[in-house]
Amino acid sequence: MTSGFDLILSAILCFGCNATDPSPQGQTTAVVISVNGTDVAAVSPDLNNNGNFEIYRTKRENMEKMRQYVNGNHFRIATIEDYPLSYTQKKADGTVVGAGVSFELIDFLAEKFNFTYEVVVPQGNIIGSTGDYKNSLVELLYDGKADLAAAFLPLLADVRIKCDYSTTVLDEGEWIMVMQRPKESATGSGLLAPFEFWVWILIFISLLAVGPIIYVLIIIRNKITGDDSQQPYSLGHCAWFVYGALMKQGSTLSPIADSTRLLFATWWIFITILTSFYTANLTAFLTLSKFTLPFNTVNDILAKQKHFVTPRGGGIEYSIKNTNESLSILSNMVLNNRATFTENENDTVTLTTFVEKYGYVFVRDRPAINHLLYLDYRYRKLISADNEKIHCPFAMAKEPFLKKKRAFAYPFQSNLSTLFDPELLNLVESGIIKHLLAKGLPNAEICPQDLGGTERQLQNGDLMMTYYIMIAGFVTSIVVFTTEMLFRFINQRQVGKNNMIIGANELQRSSNFRLHGWAAGRTNHRESLGNRLNEGIILSNVTPPPAYASIFKHNKNAVVDMNKWKQAVSKNKDESKGVRRLINGRDYMVYKNTNGINQLVPVRAPSATLFQYSYTE
Ligand SMILES: *[C@@H]1O[C@H](CO)[C@@H](O)[C@H](O)[C@H]1NC(C)=O
Ligand SMILES: *[C@@H]1O[C@H](CO)[C@@H](O)[C@H](O)[C@H]1NC(C)=O
Ligand SMILES: *[C@@H]1O[C@H](CO)[C@@H](O)[C@H](O)[C@H]1NC(C)=O
Ligand SMILES: *[C@@H]1O[C@H](CO)[C@@H](O)[C@H](O)[C@H]1NC(C)=O
Ligand SMILES: *[C@@H]1O[C@H](CO)[C@@H](O)[C@H](O)[C@H]1NC(C)=O
Repeated sequence: MTSGFDLILSAILCFGCNATDPSPQGQTTAVVISVNGTDVAAVSPDLNNNGNFEIYRTKRENMEKMRQYVNGNHFRIATIEDYPLSYTQKKADGTVVGAGVSFELIDFLAEKFNFTYEVVVPQGNIIGSTGDYKNSLVELLYDGKADLAAAFLPLLADVRIKCDYSTTVLDEGEWIMVMQRPKESATGSGLLAPFEFWVWILIFISLLAVGPIIYVLIIIRNKITGDDSQQPYSLGHCAWFVYGALMKQGSTLSPIADSTRLLFATWWIFITILTSFYTANLTAFLTLSKFTLPFNTVNDILAKQKHFVTPRGGGIEYSIKNTNESLSILSNMVLNNRATFTENENDTVTLTTFVEKYGYVFVRDRPAINHLLYLDYRYRKLISADNEKIHCPFAMAKEPFLKKKRAFAYPFQSNLSTLFDPELLNLVESGIIKHLLAKGLPNAEICPQDLGGTERQLQNGDLMMTYYIMIAGFVTSIVVFTTEMLFRFINQRQVGKNNMIIGANELQRSSNFRLHGWAAGRTNHRESLGNRLNEGIILSNVTPPPAYASIFKHNKNAVVDMNKWKQAVSKNKDESKGVRRLINGRDYMVYKNTNGINQLVPVRAPSATLFQYSYTE
C-alpha cells in the first residue's frame, strides 16, 4: 500500500492504454474503471480486491467482445451537410464519402477498430426535433437506418426521446452573428461626434442667448451707474460678437467698462475651453474611434427586431422553437417573420444574398463562419489587391448568439458507444478536435472587428457635414439677401411716397434710377454711372472722380464722362481747367488754382488718382 499514490498516478497516465491495449492477456498493473458512469479509484488486479476486480473483468470482456464484433464489420453512418464539420463528397463512381472533422474522427476509429462504413444522408438535411422529425437525421437513427450519426449535433433535450448522444462531448459549439460591417463614421456625423446631442443643443442655446444677455447687462449697467463712457452696443453687434468669438474670429467692439470687459472675457474663456475640447475630441475620435457593431447580443436582435437568417434544421432553429431551450424568447420573432431558415447549404450564397444584399444578420457556428469569411476574404482579395476596405465587408459579433455542447449520436441502446466514446474522449482531451476545427484557417484573426492598422484617411462621407454646413450657409445668405432686397424695395417705395409730397420730378428720377440700376445690363452701365455721378454731385459735395483709366482714354464715352466731371468740378470750384503738359519727360495735368498758381498733377503714376482725388476734394 506504500505505493497507493503512485498507483493512482500511473492509472491516470495509463488511462488510454487500458482501452487501447489490443492484447487480451496484457498484464495491466493499474486501471481506472467506470462504475455507474463515474471513474473511480485505481485498482490493481494484483491486490485482488474482489468486487471491483470483477466489474473490471466483465467490462474488459465486454470490450473485447465489442472489439471483435466491430472488427471487419460494416456500418451505416449518417451525417448532414454542415461544412466544415461534416459534409459529403460524391466520388466519380457515384459513391458518397464523408468529409470534414467528423469523418476524420470516424476514419481514425475505422482504422483502429478495423471496420468499414457507408455514408447515409437524410433527405431533408436537418437534425430533427419536436415536430420536425420527417426526413431528419434523428429519424434515420430512430428507424435503425443508421448505426451512428457522425455530425456535431447540439445536445437538445427534446431529441433524447429518439436517440442517445455520445457520452463524450466533442466541443462546445458557439453560434455567432455575422453582419455587414457598419461604416466607420455613421452617415458622416463624424464632425458632430465629439459632443453629445444635448451639448450641441446647449451650445446653440448659449449662442443665441449670450448676445441679448450682454446687450441687456450693458444697458442695465449704464442705467445703474449713470456712466455713459461705455456706449451701449446694439443688439446686432452683441450677437455678432458672440458668434464671431465662437468662430474664434475677432470683433471690433472694445468695451471700456471693466464689467463689460469681464462679460466679454467670460464668453471668450467659455469658447476657448469649448473649442479646445472639440478639437481634441475630434482628433481622438478620428484616430482612435472604437468600432462597435449595431448588434452584439441576442438581446440586440430581440430589441431591434432585426431580421436574421440561419440554416434550416440546425441548433439555432430548435433552440428557438423548442419550448424549454434558451433561445425560446425569440419564438415571437419567428412568428413575425423576422427569422429566416434557409435550406441553402452553400453558406457563400447565403452570405452574399441575405447579408450583403438584404442586410440580414447571419447566425452560424464558429468554425463554419471562420471558414466562410476566410473564403470570402480570399475571393475579395483577388478582386482588389490593395483596398482593405473591400476585403472585409462583414464583421462578426464577439458575443456568441448561443452556446451548446455538441456530440455524436447513436440509436437507443447502441453498444457501439461503449467502444467509441472513450476513444473520442481521448481525442477531445488531447486537443485534437480543437486542432481539426482550426485546420485550414490562418492563425491571424480574419477580418477582425477593428480593422485598424492603416491610418484612416478622411473620406467624403466624413466631411459630408461640412458640405451641408456650406450649403446651409449659402442658402441662408441667399434668403437673407432676398429679404434685404425686399426691404430695400419697400423702403424705397416709402421714400418715393414721401418725395411725392415734395416734388413729383424728384420721385421720377430717383425711382427711375434705382430700378434702372438693378435691371441695367453691362451696356447701360456707363450711362447709369454717368447718372449716378451727376446725382452725386448735385446731391452732395463729395465727388469721387471717374475711373482713372477712363479719364485719359480717348474714347467717346470717356470724354463725355470726363467733360461732365470737369463741368461738375468747375461748377463747385472756381474756373479751373486742366491742360495736359509734358514736363521733364512726364505727363502732368496743369490746373490753375483758385489763387492763380499752377498746380501740376502727374498722370501716369498710380498715385496720381489718389492725388487727384485729394486735390479735387
Ligand atoms: C451502481 O448502481 C447499482 C444499481 O444501479 C447499485 O446497486 C450500486 O451500489 C452502484 N455502485 C456504486 C459504486 O455506486
Ligand atoms: C451489439 O449490438 C448489436 C445489435 O445492435 C448486436 O448484434 C451485437 O451482438 C452486439 N454486440 C455485443 C458485443 O454485444
Ligand atoms: C480487418 O477486417 C478485414 C475485413 O474487413 C479482415 O480481413 C482483416 O483480417 C481484419 N484485420 C484485422 C487485423 O483483424
Ligand atoms: C419543459 O420543462 C418543464 C419543466 O421543466 C416540463 O414540465 C415540460 O414538459 C417541458 N416541455 C417540453 C416540451 O419538454
Ligand atoms: C457556393 O456558391 C458559390 C457561388 O455561387 C460557388 O462558387 C461555390 O463553389 C459554392 N460552394 C459549394 C460548396 O458548392
